[in-house]
Amino acid sequence: MESSLKHTALLDLEAIRRDFPLLSRKVNNKPLVYLDNGATTQKPTAVIDALTHYYSYQNSNIHRGVHRISQDITVAYEKARETVQQHLHAAYPHEIIFTKGTTDSICLVAHSFGKKYITAGDEILVTEMEHHSNILPWQQFCEDNGAVLKVVPVTEEGTLDLKALETLLTKKTKLFALTHVSNTLGTINPVKEIITLAHSKGIPVLVDGAQAVPHLAVNVQELDADFYVFSGHKSFGPTGVGILYGKEKWLQQMPPYQVGGGTIKRVTFAKTEYADLPLRFEAGTPNIEGGIGLAVALDYMNNIGMDRIAEYENELLVYATKQLSVIPGLRIIGQAKNKASVFSFVIDGMHPNDIGTLLDQQGVAVRTGHHCTQPLMDRYGIPGTVRASFAFYNTKAEIDILETATRKAVKMLA
Ligand code: ALA
Repeated sequence: MESSLKHTALLDLEAIRRDFPLLSRKVNNKPLVYLDNGATTQKPTAVIDALTHYYSYQNSNIHRGVHRISQDITVAYEKARETVQQHLHAAYPHEIIFTKGTTDSICLVAHSFGKKYITAGDEILVTEMEHHSNILPWQQFCEDNGAVLKVVPVTEEGTLDLKALETLLTKKTKLFALTHVSNTLGTINPVKEIITLAHSKGIPVLVDGAQAVPHLAVNVQELDADFYVFSGHKSFGPTGVGILYGKEKWLQQMPPYQVGGGTIKRVTFAKTEYADLPLRFEAGTPNIEGGIGLAVALDYMNNIGMDRIAEYENELLVYATKQLSVIPGLRIIGQAKNKASVFSFVIDGMHPNDIGTLLDQQGVAVRTGHHCTQPLMDRYGIPGTVRASFAFYNTKAEIDILETATRKAVKMLA
């Protein structure tokens, strides 16, 4: 595998791959070709070491102790928050809330922002390409509160129907929640233009960045996003930690979501006064090592350079499209011009899960199925897709293996 690595002018792939121990594993006696980065990414040694170091030498609770190790780890955790702030180009560290992940971040906004600003008869707008995580919190909120969920349709090529969007953003719309990058189609939505349009009608926008942060430079101030959310584990960081960015002007007005230890200034049985940002939204002992590990992951990506990552991954996507699109019967699902490195496809007469199983036997890990986007599958009238999702550590040689393995699978299933 190593000897067949092709160098790109953009990245030192051999060095990068050495940083990710899991990539040198074998699966089914074959060198692993890991193309399921949309589901979760692998972790560099720097992140793994940070977690081990935390438990070996730093473990203590934060924001609660007068003793040395508690104070030191509190400083480290708050420094991690600043790293996330800088990575997203947020104005203040207190606009960064640590959560369990993207789903948790969206649930926080649905419960807290929803409770304060959305009532019966109001509308919440989502899109047909959303992950279930960016549908269900809103659907449930609407069911509980009498609000109405509206949906922006997706075109055949896999972009948002922007004409329909204009008419769906109305006086009744109280929030528009959309994905930056579709986990199933790869489409990069024009979120800056969309946010400008929504704001021209006074509508705040939440952006699901779970599939964008691992691939693109994100600047929440330039986008003017009201909320921006992502997960640690899809961005080379630990599982169980995520981020909610919110503009100070919203977060300051929003009531606490989960309450408990760490969120308060003063508690009496008569009344509780809640803490300032960001702690009022971080109930209980947080995933301390997760926050620290996430900052290390973001530093790792920045050391490579987000622009170089985006450029290289685009090379991978173009190569995969060229190599695989000629396989007889293969149809790409998601043909937007502006795509992140997600390659979803179906093959006439074959179930995606059967193809996925045969790829696995050849050491190739992809995701198959509906990808937690069932309404999108309904839109295309398919049960699911085979999805290869690339990260900056993947190589053209791996795409060649994917192509050969797919051809073999097709032959076996024919
Ligand atoms: N949302 C993740 C995916 O797209 C799990 O695979």
